[in-house]
Amino acid sequence: MNIVIGVTGSIAAYKAIDFANQLCKKNHNVRVIMTTHATKFVQPLSFETITHHSVISNMFDGQQDALEHINLAKWADLCVIAPADANIIAKMAHGIADDFLSTFILAFDGPVLVAPAMNTVMYHQAVTQRNLSLLTEYGYEIVSPANGLLACGDVGDGKLAEIEKLVFHVEKILTSQSLTGFRLLVTAGPTVGPIDPVRYVTNHSSGKMGFSIAQEAALRGAEVTLVAGKVQRTTPYGVARIDVATTEDMLEQLKVLMPDYDGLIMAAAPADYIPMEYHEEKIKKAGDSLTIVFKKNPDILKTLKPVLIDKIVVGFAAESHQLLENAQKKLAEKNLDFIVANNIAGKDSAFQSDYNTATIIYKDGRQQPIPKQLKTELAGNILDEIQRIRHKKEER
Ligand code: CTP
Repeated sequence: MNIVIGVTGSIAAYKAIDFANQLCKKNHNVRVIMTTHATKFVQPLSFETITHHSVISNMFDGQQDALEHINLAKWADLCVIAPADANIIAKMAHGIADDFLSTFILAFDGPVLVAPAMNTVMYHQAVTQRNLSLLTEYGYEIVSPANGLLACGDVGDGKLAEIEKLVFHVEKILTSQSLTGFRLLVTAGPTVGPIDPVRYVTNHSSGKMGFSIAQEAALRGAEVTLVAGKVQRTTPYGVARIDVATTEDMLEQLKVLMPDYDGLIMAAAPADYIPMEYHEEKIKKAGDSLTIVFKKNPDILKTLKPVLIDKIVVGFAAESHQLLENAQKKLAEKNLDFIVANNIAGKDSAFQSDYNTATIIYKDGRQQPIPKQLKTELAGNILDEIQRIRHKKEER
């Protein structure tokens, strides 16, 4: 997509370099417009090196066509003002076009994101707040600043929103909101079996698949809650997260949450067994071997069956052999809408990898092989299927 970043005079201008970089890495075409004040904080060359385009700053500096603001407005799919200082916010709120950036904004009729960054007193001034309300009224989307220690030494609201948050908002605008109104629970990662205060047993699940699904669903407008096992992963933007340790904990959370949700994707790898006994004190080293007796954990999907009637339910099958037969059995036993079968043996193993090679098996026996692809892409395919099932259900 073609994105214009408008950079204004705030110390946070240096963060816009990373922002531009993140968007370029996601294969967006990025053009940067800087106000004259912004060029006092950072050099245009930094943006030019990242975007491979010259930065536009002045209206009539002889470097560009006199109609460049119109040409750029026709080229862009989206504009993000980051950081947006109080001045550009005031100008936008009142239709003032007295430099290249403000003239471009007035000439652009696509979506505009505004990410304010300024001193906290300036941000909370009634006039700035009024101007921001006007911008919302005019259809601009505001990405609220963060709270924290500001460059001036004050603590409060006014820090430019985190770059990941800005990227999330950009991607959301560019994504079709096909899952709006859909409430989705996603589980991810492994659960554990505690042994003593120091040790536990677990499995190799990385949580990548579930986190990717949660992120993609949020981008498509779903209301998403992620119930995560023991993984060190950043919570995707727009997703609520609940951390759990054991399979029992995961089951209890889902029992409480499920009635309020429309769908469940069980991408987690809940431990099937847990040590029979938890030692309150650390087990001391003694003897050449240690025997731990395990007891069976509940099967979450099977236990939840009564509350899953009328919900869209998707499971995963992690198999090292007889992939399709085993997956088909799980699909029936767990009463799923479809199951994503993946082979966990060999070099294409899904565990810990960014990639997955899978086969989707449906209730009616249809099988759809998915060639090796990024888990983020597979997440999209899974959600497309959910969307289809949702439509069918709505038509009935
Ligand atoms: N699952 C579950 N409760 C468990 C274990 C797994 O609900 N205690 C879910 C998983 O999240 C997955 C599906 O059931 O969506 C299949 O999980 P998998 O580990 O492949 O199979 P199991 O049912 O545990 O059977 P086995 O380990 O014998 O293959």
